[in-house]
Amino acid sequence: MEARAIVVTSGKGGVGKTTTTANVGTALAHLGEKVAVVDVDVGLRNLDVVMGLESRVVFDLIDVIEGRTELKKALVRDKRVEGLYLLPAAQTRDKEALDPERFKEIVWELLEKEGFDRVLIDSPAGIEKGFKTAAAPAEGALVVVNPEVSSVRDADRIIGMLEAMGIQENYLVINRIRPEMVKRGDMLAVEDVIEILGLKPIGIVPEDEHVLISTNVGEPLVLRSNSAAGRALMETARRIHGESVPLPLLEDKKGFWAAIRRIFGGS
Ligand SMILES: Nc1ncnc2c1ncn2[C@@H]1O[C@H](COP(=O)(O)OP(=O)(O)OP(=O)(O)O)[C@@H](O)[C@H]1O
Ligand SMILES: [Mg+2]
Repeated sequence: MEARAIVVTSGKGGVGKTTTTANVGTALAHLGEKVAVVDVDVGLRNLDVVMGLESRVVFDLIDVIEGRTELKKALVRDKRVEGLYLLPAAQTRDKEALDPERFKEIVWELLEKEGFDRVLIDSPAGIEKGFKTAAAPAEGALVVVNPEVSSVRDADRIIGMLEAMGIQENYLVINRIRPEMVKRGDMLAVEDVIEILGLKPIGIVPEDEHVLISTNVGEPLVLRSNSAAGRALMETARRIHGESVPLPLLEDKKGFWAAIRRIFGGS
């Protein structure tokens, strides 16, 4: 992807935005990019927890905005991966301080002054102010969607809003695909997701209990050797990084590949 500021969003809550942000951010750093993952959400399973960095958080985004610290000092460096930093969300303070214009300035400073190659922004669920703030600086988006009707419906609204905001380089991350569905040949849901939403997929991630385990131990999956979701998220990052990595798993699903070919303008 060309976009250096990328918002990870979904509309619907709980579909895998924070998981995607943590893992794709970690993987991009692993591939040699200098990456900031930025938490705009104040949720239960925050980005700092999923990254295993919560004990090292001193300052947050609102401290930077309100001038209590410099941006540099609020960034938490991840010691496990060279070039990976977290800018944490405010846990307690008033979210009102975070307005889209100020947030744009902060992301601009990360890219233009602090030398980051990529800024991944973990958006809150919903289509309200939190989402609009998170998306304000973005040049591109990862729209995370689960293969189910309510998630697809919300993603559709979000895609419309992104386009209305002039955010152009948008891709789907289809998360929580169930392997047994693939085996049964029951992949209609995925075809439908892609067709209805009219966006190219850049990641297809299976349902995998390792996701929850990794959240609990605070270690992004892509740092662990062998899990299906970890591999899929690493491949997602490789595609974002610019490598040509075929979309996974589903070679024998003719319908699925027919849908992909249609979308990419093939036969
Ligand atoms: N591929 C997957 N396989 C299994 N569980 C998953 C997968 N992706 C996400 N989960 C689980 O789903 C839950 C929600 O994930 P996550 O916190 O990333 O979603 P979110 O979109 O950031 O949610 P919110 O809208 O609340 O911020 C977590 O418990 C996570 O472990
Ligand atoms: Mg989240």
